Amino acid sequence: MAIVATVLTTAVPASTGLDIEDYLPPPQQPSSADEARRQHARVLAERAQAHHIAAEKARLRAAESARQAAVLMERPAGEQLLEARCLNCHPMELVLLTPRTRLAWEALIWRMQWINGAELKSGERPIIAAYLTTVRPAPRRRAVFELIALGLLLTIPAVFVLRHLRRTTPRTSPENPT
Ligand code: HEC
Repeated sequence: MAIVATVLTTAVPASTGLDIEDYLPPPQQPSSADEARRQHARVLAERAQAHHIAAEKARLRAAESARQAAVLMERPAGEQLLEARCLNCHPMELVLLTPRTRLAWEALIWRMQWINGAELKSGERPIIAAYLTTVRPAPRRRAVFELIALGLLLTIPAVFVLRHLRRTTPRTSPENPT
């Protein structure tokens, strides 16, 4: 911090290009050498104070931008990924409009990838889906309903296929061997 303050103290006058002499009242003829020395000391003190204030302001500005950068870096990875991958096509409000279960968020991101052309690297979909599920979850009963629906969707065709196979396979029995 001391190094930063020193650099700023020495850098400010060069960058401002201002000369304090231009802003001083017209010089009064000092009555004596003593008076002249006092005036000089006063000018030096004022200049030092101005430098000090400028350095302090620069230090506060630097601290504030460092704090903001730290806040940005500390956000969850999912949020950062979402911003990088999803917000170039539509705003956050649209993404968060509808609450969804984890399954539905996964399906939506699949849809964005395969139909709308969102470009995700491998392994990024689960991170974004998990983040969206925490910030915009659907009620738990909807998750249960979706799981049951998915289960039925998968088992009903399986039952049909099995029954079909059983009917078309020739039965063999000990009394009536074929
Ligand atoms: C290349 C552009 C593009 C990218 C990248 C993109 N989307 Fe989309 N998104 C669209 C378009 C176009 C629509 C409107 C058409 C539609 O609904 O499919 C849409 C619609 C949506 C909707 C509203 C549709 C609904 O059914 O509720 C949501 C939510 C959404 N996107 C989320 C996302 C998420 C999350 C990502 C990041 C993984 C993403 N999008 C990345 C183009 C994109």
